[in-house]
Amino acid sequence: MEHESAAGEAEGRTRILVAVAWPYASGPRHIGHVAGFGVPSDIFARYHRLKGNDVLMVSGTDEHGTPIMVAADREGVSPAQLAQRFNGLIREDLERLGLSYDIFTRTTTRNHYRVTQDVFKTLYDKGFIVRQTMLGAFSESTGRTLPDRYIEGTCPNCGFSEARGDQCDHCGRQLDPTDLLEPRSRIDGSRPVFRETEHFFLDLPAFSERLSEWIGAQEHWRPNVRAFSANLVDELRPRAITRDLDWGVPIPLEAYDGLDDKRIYVWFDAVIGYLSAAVEWARNRGTPDAWREWWQDPSARHYYFMGKDNIVFHAVIWPSMLMGYGQGGEVGADRGELGLPHDIVSSEFLTMEGKKFSSSRGVAIYVNDFLSRYDPDPLRYFLTVAGPESQDTDFTWAEFVRRNNDELLANWGNLVNRTLASAYKNFGAVPEPGVLTDDDEALLQAVEAGFATVGSLIEAARFRAALVEAMQIAARANQYVSEQAPWAKLEADRARAGTILSVTLRAIDGLKVLLAPVLPFTSQLLHELLGYEGQLSGRVVSRDEVEEDGSAHAVLGGDYGAATGRWEPSQLPAGQRLQQPRPLYRKLDADEVVAGELARMERAAADGC
Ligand code: MF3
Ligand code: ZN
Repeated sequence: MEHESAAGEAEGRTRILVAVAWPYASGPRHIGHVAGFGVPSDIFARYHRLKGNDVLMVSGTDEHGTPIMVAADREGVSPAQLAQRFNGLIREDLERLGLSYDIFTRTTTRNHYRVTQDVFKTLYDKGFIVRQTMLGAFSESTGRTLPDRYIEGTCPNCGFSEARGDQCDHCGRQLDPTDLLEPRSRIDGSRPVFRETEHFFLDLPAFSERLSEWIGAQEHWRPNVRAFSANLVDELRPRAITRDLDWGVPIPLEAYDGLDDKRIYVWFDAVIGYLSAAVEWARNRGTPDAWREWWQDPSARHYYFMGKDNIVFHAVIWPSMLMGYGQGGEVGADRGELGLPHDIVSSEFLTMEGKKFSSSRGVAIYVNDFLSRYDPDPLRYFLTVAGPESQDTDFTWAEFVRRNNDELLANWGNLVNRTLASAYKNFGAVPEPGVLTDDDEALLQAVEAGFATVGSLIEAARFRAALVEAMQIAARANQYVSEQAPWAKLEADRARAGTILSVTLRAIDGLKVLLAPVLPFTSQLLHELLGYEGQLSGRVVSRDEVEEDGSAHAVLGGDYGAATGRWEPSQLPAGQRLQQPRPLYRKLDADEVVAGELARMERAAADGC
């Protein structure tokens, strides 16, 4: 392991798998969702690409399980139809937000079924999956199974009265519905009936020793993630990984051939998506084995991004599955063990105007709605500087307007605007600098130093601190240009005015890169205004992928390899022609924002009935 990573460093490139939680295709996604998994993972991926590392960013829509079935029932369509529709809408949202997946696919592809069944079969053959009879919860009124999450009751561990059938959100204990005191259905409040049913269980206790050793060694994990996971390992029980449902990946054992009433549990298949998406990506590039470089080469690093309610699946269950799979079955083909997570970056929750997001109660701002009124970068800015990175935070429209106007626009936008306007009007191109003063040098050095400080903060997944740092450098450049006032020197000392503008343009050119992971759209615009051609970071695009049987599905991907941006100080050449400047950001009017929000609420209320 040691010398393999040294070999990677010798080439100067590290392989980074950016594994992003899969949103349920059960409805449109609101800004709370993308604050948790979307924007942070994208900042991380974009940074590492600029840095010259090999990034593979994978995800897709999570299309099985009861969230999809319940939503489909409500709309009177099949789960497949519902998932098809929301896969499309979610994909559009993520593309408009500029989330730069290498592949954003779905869990209903043939490829995903094949990989999931291989993992199941391999774990079963190795004895890590066992058959047991258990008591399943059924709804007396409908006769159908009642999923864990739709059963509520009192936690036997801490007495919390709203514990769910799978977990207590108060003490974190993993639960079975039969553990709950006073169980009731969340759908109609009725008391579930429990009947015997046979299921497959993942033998988690078989991994507890390896897990505790492994978790104990993850000193770089955020302390809350590490403590939480270590706690879970102390009380592991076998966990049911099949359900009495007809929507999900079929159980790949002969006895279940053609049986339509049991399927693999949604969480078991969803986490396998990180692997199957890489397999799909490799195949569609015409290099079917390329996924192995990310999954079977121990020098590759895996970073997972999610909301805090997903930790157990990523820190305990998925690692157990990976350990158990080992060198694998058909897919792994004895070519090396599958990599374990290197880091688990989990975020807290975003509330809205003090309330928990809830689609049913109209407390939600959907991404598409937001982006129909505002540009993506101001949203990305807000979610990074004021998002729930390390504690729950609140979205308010007033605060969004303030952050946009008083920070993004007043600091960074204004610096760009006044510098470009003066340079364009008076020189038309990047002016030739004269001898640099100490002040000039100091500014350029401050920007240069930002590449190390901002970079290491992003590497440590401290996105908010990274952005604050970059914005402080922008503020410093603003102060420099105000003090130097090149516009006042144009008559008396045109050469000095040109030098100041050239220094400021170089500072802006560097800041453009420092800010590009968070603000990709306006950094690209600025890149063009500064007279560059081509793509700073590449573009996200939707395309169709055809599977072996001829069926097609749309995926997001991108051609990031052709991008020219580098995580290094500006080399802006004197004489480069500038383009006619345009503002990067729009000043928002608080009254208009409120009016837009009221109109949204009226629409939502009208749709709701
Ligand atoms: N769909 C799940 C949720 O929204 C997340 C699945 S993440 C994966 O909570 F690990 F399963 F991929
Ligand atoms: Zn509890």
